[in-house]
Amino acid sequence: MSAPKTFSIKSFGCQMNVYDGERMAELLGAEGMAPAEPGADADVVVLNTCHIREKAAEKAYSEVGRLRREDGSRPVIALAGCVAQAEGAEAKRRSKSIDLVVGPQAYHRLPQLLRDVEGGARPVDTDLPPLDKFAALPRRRRAGVSAFLSVQEGCDKFCTYCVVPYTRGAEVSRPIADLLDEAAQLVDGGTREITLLGQNVNAWEDGQETLATLIRRLAMLDGLERIRYTTSHPINMADDLIAAHAEVPELMPYLHLPVQAGSNRILKAMNRHHTAEEYLATIARVRAANPEIAISGDFIVGFPGETEEDFAATLRIVGQVGYASAFTFKYSARPGTPAATMDDQVPERVKDERLQRLQALVMEQSRAFNASKVGATTRILIDRNGRRDGQMIGKSPWLQSVFVDTDAGIGDMVDVRLTAALPNSIAGELVTKVTQQAA
Ligand code: 5AD
Ligand code: SF4
Repeated sequence: MSAPKTFSIKSFGCQMNVYDGERMAELLGAEGMAPAEPGADADVVVLNTCHIREKAAEKAYSEVGRLRREDGSRPVIALAGCVAQAEGAEAKRRSKSIDLVVGPQAYHRLPQLLRDVEGGARPVDTDLPPLDKFAALPRRRRAGVSAFLSVQEGCDKFCTYCVVPYTRGAEVSRPIADLLDEAAQLVDGGTREITLLGQNVNAWEDGQETLATLIRRLAMLDGLERIRYTTSHPINMADDLIAAHAEVPELMPYLHLPVQAGSNRILKAMNRHHTAEEYLATIARVRAANPEIAISGDFIVGFPGETEEDFAATLRIVGQVGYASAFTFKYSARPGTPAATMDDQVPERVKDERLQRLQALVMEQSRAFNASKVGATTRILIDRNGRRDGQMIGKSPWLQSVFVDTDAGIGDMVDVRLTAALPNSIAGELVTKVTQQAA
């Protein structure tokens, strides 16, 4: 077999996978490979998989099957991400087409693994040395106007439903010097907004440094206009981070703070380490610091033992918080997690029915949130072309997608008046163009 020339990377699941996918692309690029043109066959395909909910592994294997070409040939197939971590060598037994298996903490070794494949091997690398990969990855290139930066990996919280502590390993923070360096590389490449990523991003620490002090230092980087972070755990919502929301203009008024459920009995069974009242008190502290802040969350319905009364408590907490947006999931039993073997698993039709009720409430809230911004003038960061000629789409500080007619380009910031709330976006009218992205 000749050396691979083109690659394509397909990422599923969370933003950490998007980040990992970008780093893998940079890595293969540095090896002299090129991304395949859209629609063209790639020599190497990396499936960067997600294991968080049911049928994840099945989905990954059916993706593998779909990579067979009309003439019967197929690309070199690398199974990466959390399914790769969870399945390990089993993946090779389940699909003969998988050439290599590489976990989320080992993908810096992808070039060597591809060489092993050329040599006739089918390597599996699911080591979990958490920070090794960063030193081995190439410098950041142009990563886009808005880019992710992984600051913290893994999770030690062990919520009883969740696979992350098993697929991503223990909670580890990257050193501040590395993060400031990577952020500077991104800004040099034209990035204007950085979203700090971690499974428990607000637990990030390095000696005396906390996420709040990291944010304050990043805010001093010339050319970096906006900072976001996700996902936070309620028990790590420290005072200094909350104060940053009042004091650091670059920190966007948006907080993703999952509560998962409203019943204290269920929160305890989930091993969340906080009550509904404590969560509400945290939200109140955040809103006292910055009344403008948009709150978003994650919810699981139908956790084992969830009664109608427990579910009513979830609806109640949603009503009390008033979310700008929320992600809602049906509980999915994950093999190897404590909740999977708990008594009183909730029937599927009950989960379906609760999910619908919760989604209706959440949609009503996001519509109300968007409507509350109509009439306001706000700054957006343009990140893509709109569907019509001359129309551009940018993000508001509250992460809404705003459509506007303007000759400004991707990377520009413009002031717009928000004129109408649509189901998943907002229409805006140009007020002034603020800054031009340097060529
Ligand atoms: N079933 C359903 N939802 C889950 N999540 C995590 N594990 C499960 C599971 N087993 C949800 C949680 C988490 C989000 C990323 O995915 O709400 O915050
Ligand atoms: Fe999973 Fe809980 Fe860790 Fe989030 S905090 S990654 S839900 S174990």
